[in-house]
Amino acid sequence: MNARITGTGGYLPEKIIHNKHFESSLETSDEWIYARTGIRKRHVIAAHESTASMAEMAANRALDAAGLDADEVDLIIVGTSSPDRVFPSTACILQDKLGISDCVAFDVQAACSGFIYALGIAHQFIKAGGAKKALIIGAEANSRILDYSDRSTCVIFGDGAGAVVLEATEEQGILSTHLHSDGQYKDLLYVNNPIKDQLEDGDKAYLTMHGNDVYKVAVKTLGRIVDETLDANGMVKSDVDWLIPHQANIRIISSVAKKLNMPMEKVVLTIENQGNTSSASIPLALDQAVRDGRIKKGHVVLMEAFGGGFVWGSALVKM
Ligand code: UT7
Repeated sequence: MNARITGTGGYLPEKIIHNKHFESSLETSDEWIYARTGIRKRHVIAAHESTASMAEMAANRALDAAGLDADEVDLIIVGTSSPDRVFPSTACILQDKLGISDCVAFDVQAACSGFIYALGIAHQFIKAGGAKKALIIGAEANSRILDYSDRSTCVIFGDGAGAVVLEATEEQGILSTHLHSDGQYKDLLYVNNPIKDQLEDGDKAYLTMHGNDVYKVAVKTLGRIVDETLDANGMVKSDVDWLIPHQANIRIISSVAKKLNMPMEKVVLTIENQGNTSSASIPLALDQAVRDGRIKKGHVVLMEAFGGGFVWGSALVKM
């Protein structure tokens, strides 16, 4: 059994914070942020919203696009590192919001690679006959784990959610997925556990990133995964129609595009207006390019991500 993406959806909160906003409270500037990251602005959730409520908006849009009723879904996987609760999973909270009475529902915690991990796992479920209609989501309330006095992180991340419906099909849609991790880098990008810290030392659970060290490993690793993905499919660079990278840094994205000999017009970019939305960035970019007509049925799309762990991965998809 094969699997194909039959619908996409996205949600971005209404509130937007421009780079200029940070200039009054931090030693930073619009020029620095844009030159080093490619970011101009990011969306931030309102007090009444949550990771699950953003996931619900994105999921409903993906279900509409696929022409599916929520109760037909038999698998929900949410990639998130900013869940509503430690447990139950955001997937279970979403299941309740969607009114689905019985299905498999769980979260995947793979930092910025959360969506790629969720997609890879769902693909295996469908291939093995364990599911037929899956909702795969990347959703993050990053603003709730940021220290707004830390200029090296708070200017980078934004909030949002993206979703796809993945259905069992005869035709091949997901060509391959490739998942990796290497825990030796666990101290370069992390968020502490708030429960443990409340008990032990009262540290706040903020995102900490050694950006430049992460950057160097990300560039090398993502270059390698391009080769791995193409080789696994017996494809060459020119077979790929679109690159949808995790939107961490325009300089990282450009170096992967260069590796693929791909002009930047063939790279779906959202980083300027959305910042780094972690596991939400790939499904949000996919949704944008599908809805504006750039990505069409039959196009071959390479998605790749890298994040805290380190965890990284790719998916080669025929739309
Ligand atoms: O999404 C998951 C994976 N994450 C990534 O892939 C992120 C990878 N890393 C990056 O994108 C980049 O490393 C950053 C954008 C985070 C930082 O850019 P960089 O070119 O690597 O800068 P840096 O960390 O080497 O810092 C250069 C200087 C430092 O000052 P000194 O030590 O040279 O005086 C920083 O303190 O820039 C300073 N700096 C800032 N200056 C103005 C750090 N943040 C800021 C800021 N505004 N917001």
